[in-house]
Amino acid sequence: MLAQLAVFVSGSGSNLQAIIDAIQDGQIKGATIKIVIASNANAYALERAKQSGIDTLVFEKKDYQSPSVMFESIIKVLQEKEIDYIVLAGYLTILTPNIINAFRNKIINIHPSLIPAYCGDGYYGIKVHQAVIEAKEKKTGVTVHFVDEGTDTGAIIMQEAVQVLAGDNAETLQKRVLLTEHQLLPKAINYIVNRRKE
Ligand code: GRF
Repeated sequence: MLAQLAVFVSGSGSNLQAIIDAIQDGQIKGATIKIVIASNANAYALERAKQSGIDTLVFEKKDYQSPSVMFESIIKVLQEKEIDYIVLAGYLTILTPNIINAFRNKIINIHPSLIPAYCGDGYYGIKVHQAVIEAKEKKTGVTVHFVDEGTDTGAIIMQEAVQVLAGDNAETLQKRVLLTEHQLLPKAINYIVNRRKE
């Protein structure tokens, strides 16, 4: 039975595309993307999903009285679709405790730094790389981890280092780190989906 994935997105969806491609080329075995859920209707990631024939839904915070109420609706959809794992691929809405409890140890996130460095509140997107450049780090990287109630605090699944090159700025570094994200996320998903069942 294929593991059913729900991928949550907010932006361009290059990480989503990496998962789609890895399933198609067999780098991810035993899983399929059942649904892509976006936090906003104009996320280009939705276009990528449609081009691959994957169902999409949009849940915007502004349409609900609270994030927790929004996630109650999302939980219902995920349970109806018998989702096994949620993959946060650049999803910018903070998950509330209800969905974390409903999918305990089944939610995977990718973060563009070597956690515990440059993570937590306020560290997302280009801000992560700006901080790395300002600190004159020689090395940064990518972390795939389980999601718990904290911000970027769940158990680490995989990490990969990325060199900071002389002359790098936040933009050039972000581009290089993104390439590693596209390699590591599919590897981590394949590992989690196919690890020996404890
Ligand atoms: C990536 O930088 C990822 O590390 C972060 O959000 C961004 C998502 O990019 N979590 P994309 O939407 O997958 O292209």
